[in-house]
Amino acid sequence: MPAIRLDGKALAENLRAEIAAKVASRVAGGQQPPGLAVVLVGDNPASQVYVRNKRKACDQTGIRSWLHHLPADTSQRTLLDLIAELNANPEVHGILVQLPLPHQIDEKAVIDAIDPDVDVDTFHPENVGRLMAGHPRFYPCTPHGCVQILQRNNIPTAGREVVIVGRSNIVGKPLALMLMQKPTPNNPAGGDAIVTVAHTRAPDLAALTRRADILIPAVGVPRLITPDMVKPGAVVIDVGINSVGGKLCGDADERVAEVASAVTPVPGGVGPMTIAMLLSNTLQSCERLDG
Ligand code: GUN
Repeated sequence: MPAIRLDGKALAENLRAEIAAKVASRVAGGQQPPGLAVVLVGDNPASQVYVRNKRKACDQTGIRSWLHHLPADTSQRTLLDLIAELNANPEVHGILVQLPLPHQIDEKAVIDAIDPDVDVDTFHPENVGRLMAGHPRFYPCTPHGCVQILQRNNIPTAGREVVIVGRSNIVGKPLALMLMQKPTPNNPAGGDAIVTVAHTRAPDLAALTRRADILIPAVGVPRLITPDMVKPGAVVIDVGINSVGGKLCGDADERVAEVASAVTPVPGGVGPMTIAMLLSNTLQSCERLDG
């Protein structure tokens, strides 16, 4: 039987509708709408697409957004000054600095400069620490999108083997933390799973991926995961978004659908959920800071 298609696009549309209703009710009650400041440095084509999609989703939900598009040769000082200004702006409830940054800018210094209260990406060390300790301020967007896809499709994680391929700060590491944690009222995205974090340096990657009840490739290597690397009946949540010959494909070969019980498509899987989670964090930040 072919795998079920886990439709992230449809799920994200539902979430956007829920967020839009909450924003509309704030505004009807005389409160200000949530506001997201988006900072883009340079002309990386993929970053431009991501930023455009994030701002479009803000528009659709009534969240205000401002784009600060700086030239590729922007100095670190200029960027840090802009962040200080945005931190102090009461209309800004979220700051997103699109990564990667040009080489002359120290990414860590920039992330550290964002006020943790408006760090809707969950990149600041304070927010990473809070997530690690099990009392998150925000959930990181892509990992939370993956968890929501599992939860909202009633795919259990407790006691099951999850194998994440990829150890990035944006996806692999925080997703492992979330999926291994015990769920609590303050940490409802805890997955209670048995988590392995693999990566492309594993001498026998297939032996690891074949253990997975839930396999989550997040490395940015087109079609790395082939059907022989998937346990029959496993669920595959594909975080990869790769452009090959002008077409998008994931980190999993499309033929894994012949072996898996459920897969996320690329595009239309995790990508739209990442954006929905960003909107959710921005609304949550606004509610906390503004009431
Ligand atoms: N670059 C790739 N993914 C992300 C993300 O989720 N947030 C930001 N700020 N930059 C990224």
